[in-house]
Amino acid sequence: MSDAHTNHADLAAWVEKMVTLCQPDAVRWCDGSQAEWNELTQLLVDSGTFTRLNPEKRPNSFLARSTPSDVARVENRTYICSRRPDLAGPTNNWEDPKKMKEILNGKFASCMKGRTMYVIPFCMGPPDSPLAKIGVQLTDSAYVVVNMRIMTHMGAHILKRLEDEASGAIPAKRDGHGHFVPCLHSVGAPLAPGQQDVPWPCNEDKYICHFPETREIMSYGSGYGGNALLGKKCLALRIATNIAREHNWMAEHMLILGLESPDGEKTYLTAAFPSACGKTNLAMIVPPKSYVEAGWKTTIVGDDIAWLWPHEDGRLHAINPESGYFGVAPGTSYDTNPIAMDSMRENCIFTNVALTDDGDVWWEGLTKEPPAHLIDWKGRDWTPADGEAGNVAAHANARFTAPASQCPTIDPDWQNPDGVPISAIIFGGRRPSTMPLVFQAFNWSHGVYLGATMGSEVTAAAIGLKAGVRRDPMAMLPFCGYNMGDYFSHWLEMRGKVTHLPRFFHVNWFRRDTDGSFLWPGFGDNMRVLEWIVKRCHGAIPGHETPIGWTPHFKEFNTEGLEDFTHEDFDKAMAYNPEEWKEELLSQGELYLKLYDHLPKELIFQRELLAARLS
Ligand code: GTP
Ligand code: SPV
Ligand code: MN
Repeated sequence: MSDAHTNHADLAAWVEKMVTLCQPDAVRWCDGSQAEWNELTQLLVDSGTFTRLNPEKRPNSFLARSTPSDVARVENRTYICSRRPDLAGPTNNWEDPKKMKEILNGKFASCMKGRTMYVIPFCMGPPDSPLAKIGVQLTDSAYVVVNMRIMTHMGAHILKRLEDEASGAIPAKRDGHGHFVPCLHSVGAPLAPGQQDVPWPCNEDKYICHFPETREIMSYGSGYGGNALLGKKCLALRIATNIAREHNWMAEHMLILGLESPDGEKTYLTAAFPSACGKTNLAMIVPPKSYVEAGWKTTIVGDDIAWLWPHEDGRLHAINPESGYFGVAPGTSYDTNPIAMDSMRENCIFTNVALTDDGDVWWEGLTKEPPAHLIDWKGRDWTPADGEAGNVAAHANARFTAPASQCPTIDPDWQNPDGVPISAIIFGGRRPSTMPLVFQAFNWSHGVYLGATMGSEVTAAAIGLKAGVRRDPMAMLPFCGYNMGDYFSHWLEMRGKVTHLPRFFHVNWFRRDTDGSFLWPGFGDNMRVLEWIVKRCHGAIPGHETPIGWTPHFKEFNTEGLEDFTHEDFDKAMAYNPEEWKEELLSQGELYLKLYDHLPKELIFQRELLAARLS
């Protein structure tokens, strides 16, 4: 039935095999066209999954409400099924690939009965990039299809490209040429004949599984975000980290941002922050007025994932493998992130936000005063009194899916197959204490140590995590597809492959005062920190040595237009407290112990050095 759709023999054979396994009522090869979008979004409206938003307020946009149990990534149901447990390492759930395949074959057997199987050919990254990766996702969720159309290069042109690569019509350019990553997905909710569907089908039993050696992904039971849009975390991070390690590049949970100084010099940097810790906001930063007036410009290449490689020009280059933003809605407003607001004016999908009486969307933080009446993310009537009682109108991990091409500050090179050259790598998390606003690593190996020992308060982006600060190395704890210790070694080894080394920094927008308030205004004012970083990269200003790294002094730190922010406030935000740092050092021990047999000596040495500097 399916082989007529492609002359790619492996793809035809795989689809046929999966059809036999999953038993869908129909198979549909997605072409990525506007007509297909129109048809599928209407189908989703008719089935009750989507509410069409008011076309005058939010053209061609839709709201979906998920089942309350399916609202975020499920880390405890995410598996790295490598040959041996030590290849996945102690920070990942592991299962034997053979055994997991048996379990999954049981789960996927007949799981698409009563539904359509969609075949989604997609490409992560500009298709002409040497790093681009083609995948094919099979899914029984039309919601996934329309989200994938925003988040990736998707459709007939990608299928054609895959076929042309395999037939030799396109000369070999990228690794993986002619091949695709098979991504099987089901919500795990077959329909009996005549059975009424629900708006958000899913299964309480969930498996998000990766097979690094065979580069396969199988995801069962969830329809939400990273669990279901398999090009994102599953392919572009968990599988890609494995490919990158073998082929001397890096797949990272990082935004990519361009900064143009008043004299026209362009600097690109990447930043790794854990989920819901500010990547989208920083990538879309609008600098303070004084900066704009002086001629500073910012552009976005990516907001979540970066693929980096040592370019022949000696520098580290980066592409964004994604084509859209799957951004956190709550807290996003014209005050905090106008660029995101403008990017989501039309052609968007909103999931688990609230619906206004005039058919638009709302979430906590969008406006100072909530509307007098809403339908909340669970589909119930909501008034501000509910909010006061602690019931949020939008789920904390409610998200918008928006095409990157709609972003007003999109970088002209965001689809350049050659990527953009990176001058700085920034690490940071949500740290209520200890971590100052900004400091610079002494060198690459110290920078890797800062990334490896990064910590952050957990957020709503994943289900079922204990509150508090956890170690989240390079913001990759849930996304590194192999042993974290080996991943650190890979980072250290990349040092030798680059001649123009990027500089490393650590930032913290989330430090709190004794009264619980943030010590730093954040958002657009983060530009002040970025300016210091850019100047440090170009050797334009001195850094001041402290036991933890190089830091700015108040007089070199631009606070123009930030009237309420005094020298004393700066000192509080920048404070280095040896007692807190001793505790920090101790708590890093837990991670080191966990990874002991794969931990590179160089990082043990870095920790010793820090201990020596502290005492
Ligand atoms: P993922 O998409 O999960 O990877 O998240 P992200 O890292 O892109 O985080 P995002 O930019 O969506 O920010 C998450 C939350 O942090 C939002 O509620 C923001 O309002 C808040 N936030 C972002 N930047 C800042 C900042 O500079 N200061 C403060 N206080 N909050 C911030
Ligand atoms: C994250 O959790 O880091 C996200 C959202 O970007 S998800 O795509 O669901 O992983
Ligand atoms: Mn993310």
